[in-house]
Amino acid sequence: MSLTIDQKARATMHGNDQGTYTLPTNGLYPYQWNWDSAFAALGFATFDVNRAWVELETLFSGQWDNGMVPHIIFHRESAGYFPGPREWGTKTVPPTSGISQPPVAATFTRAIYASDPASGRSRVEKLFPRLLRWHRWFWRHRNEDGLIVVNHPWESGRDNAPEWDEAMANVDTSGVGTYSRNDTSHVDPHMRPSKEDYDRFMAIVAAGRACGWDEEELTRNGPFRVADPGMSFILLRANRDLMALAEELGEDSGEIEGWIRIQEAALPRLWNPQLNGYDALNIRTGNFAGSMSSASFLNWYGGIENPQAMAEFRRITAAVPFAFPSHDPASPRFEAFRYWRGPTWGMINTLIGMGLEEMGHHGEAEALRTSTASLIEKSGFAEYFNPMDGQPAGGMDFTWTAAIWLAWASPNRHRKAG
Ligand code: DGY
Repeated sequence: MSLTIDQKARATMHGNDQGTYTLPTNGLYPYQWNWDSAFAALGFATFDVNRAWVELETLFSGQWDNGMVPHIIFHRESAGYFPGPREWGTKTVPPTSGISQPPVAATFTRAIYASDPASGRSRVEKLFPRLLRWHRWFWRHRNEDGLIVVNHPWESGRDNAPEWDEAMANVDTSGVGTYSRNDTSHVDPHMRPSKEDYDRFMAIVAAGRACGWDEEELTRNGPFRVADPGMSFILLRANRDLMALAEELGEDSGEIEGWIRIQEAALPRLWNPQLNGYDALNIRTGNFAGSMSSASFLNWYGGIENPQAMAEFRRITAAVPFAFPSHDPASPRFEAFRYWRGPTWGMINTLIGMGLEEMGHHGEAEALRTSTASLIEKSGFAEYFNPMDGQPAGGMDFTWTAAIWLAWASPNRHRKAG
């Protein structure tokens, strides 16, 4: 008997499960990644809610004293990944990277709690103060007048997106030296960031290590500081969910409400009229990136309506057989197979789709869901997909693609797994 896609999705998640945390995929990513893990929790919650809570609890076991939740936690040594604990040099226990990643955890904590409040209450009570400390860290160290910035392209989760080209061009790579990447031995180099990108990624890591990951120093003088629509919308949304959790737990929500008001007032500054879209803004130069990406359309997820964004969303959706591409296919920088410069990512589709649905754009939300489902039916749980022909790209047997199948894309998503 052949397995259903739901069964295959659960098997994929089990295959990457390390007991208390889940690898994004074996080989290419041999540790715990921050937002990958939050998506894993969302997937686990469809068939094993206790395992979902354990995933989030393990993620927060890596939280720094200053509140940051790192983008990678190196629970145990693995030779197969670069840059590892030595390059990051954070001197933390457990060893971690020195940057964070998009905070989807509060949003998914709220969703998982809603799916089973009785068993989730004690788990949420313990997670809430940790989520709050993380969001406070964002507010203290990644906030530029209400716009949320990233200090490294890896922090955005969209590593080599054209959003970063302008700011990356100013990163000095003269001290980087030689190193050997491991990612291109796992995946076709045409689907991964270029050598120039990697040199700059490593130069920014070296700058963080050199100052002992001192946030004040990096805020003032770090080589990369760019306001990101993705991070801004995702934190705004996460703050709304954190506020709802605070109210549910009878905690004071005034501080969180204050952040939301400031973020809402700041966001119009990320609208680039030349682009007719939300754009990244380099804090060091004041320049827009001129890049329309999938993150430009997270405004509904952030609770922000925008008819002009909707017109662009419809244009881009109509331009590719498998929406939603990570970069505008009308742009000369679009590359259908290269990581965040064109491919379609199921987990971004999920965030966009959630936002569309919640803001009443049911037709668009449903179309995005069914096209994501058709991609997965055709090409499996790939890391990302070519938006032109639906071919799989990057790593295979990917946790977050399996997780979003179960939680969002599957026709059986509302049915509890037996
Ligand atoms: C990688 O290694 O490509 C990761 O995306 C960095 O977080």
